[in-house]
Amino acid sequence: MTESVHADREERLLSWVQASFADSPDPRLKVVMLSLTSHLHGFLRDVRLTEAEWEAGIAFLTEAGRVTTAVRQEFVLLSDVLGASMQTVTINAQLRAGATEATVRGPFFVTGSPFVALGGDISGGAAGRPCWVEGTVTDTDGTPVPGARLEVWESDETGRYDVQYDDERVTGRAHLFSDPEGGYRFWGVTPSPYPIPDDGPVGRMLEAVGRSPMRAAHLHFMVTAEGYRRLVTHIFARGGEYLRTDAVFGVREGLIKEFVEHDGAEPTPDGRDLGGRKWASVRFDIVLEPAPDDA
Ligand code: BEZ
Ligand code: FE
Repeated sequence: MTESVHADREERLLSWVQASFADSPDPRLKVVMLSLTSHLHGFLRDVRLTEAEWEAGIAFLTEAGRVTTAVRQEFVLLSDVLGASMQTVTINAQLRAGATEATVRGPFFVTGSPFVALGGDISGGAAGRPCWVEGTVTDTDGTPVPGARLEVWESDETGRYDVQYDDERVTGRAHLFSDPEGGYRFWGVTPSPYPIPDDGPVGRMLEAVGRSPMRAAHLHFMVTAEGYRRLVTHIFARGGEYLRTDAVFGVREGLIKEFVEHDGAEPTPDGRDLGGRKWASVRFDIVLEPAPDDA
């Protein structure tokens, strides 16, 4: 069959598929399905997908479904490593000047984290070098946002989150509230790089294409306050490994912060006695955007 006959038949098939959405009662769903099928067919035709490759793709998705549980979401991970999660964050960012940038949430946020008072320790005994984290929560005009809820979560120094252990430990996570001046402060552990869960089909795909599963060291924040858009983000350690090759494309220049190392002899900001251990400190000033309805 000649190339043009192929192209004709392929075009006609796509038109037929697209026509099937003509009577969709939901206009938004119609837009999404028309674009999805157009791009999907474009991809199939572009790479001239073989039947064996189609089968491999279906097997990949089937395996992703098989390993997905309440605490392991392989499809979100797939979206993450393809940059689709970060692209969705990017599309939906309001980008009001000065507002803190958002990034991916990742799979390790858990509701019901312990409350920690300002200046308290969120590590819960997680292994790692103590790290003092402080900053303010303000709006884009610089007005303090008191009472903002900050959810923070991080891995221990081995790169594992509490939920990745087989016991019931709750470590490296907490929530706290900003003070009347919008200030916040807490002790955590200095973040370490770690691999995304790579023992499933997504990990095998990364290996097959020669990509690293490593994420740059980071500390997660989710900040909510009445009247403001919820901010889901994390901060990265300046000079750390994997900033350019972060497996989920989550790094933004504005989120890279200086984690200052301190000798054990240096006094801590709150006078805490660390028994001569080295510690670190970082400042992260958070700027919230107005909630979309008020914008
Ligand atoms: C995380 O940072 O916790 C994460 C984000 C995306 C995929 C896996 C882990
Ligand atoms: Fe993380």
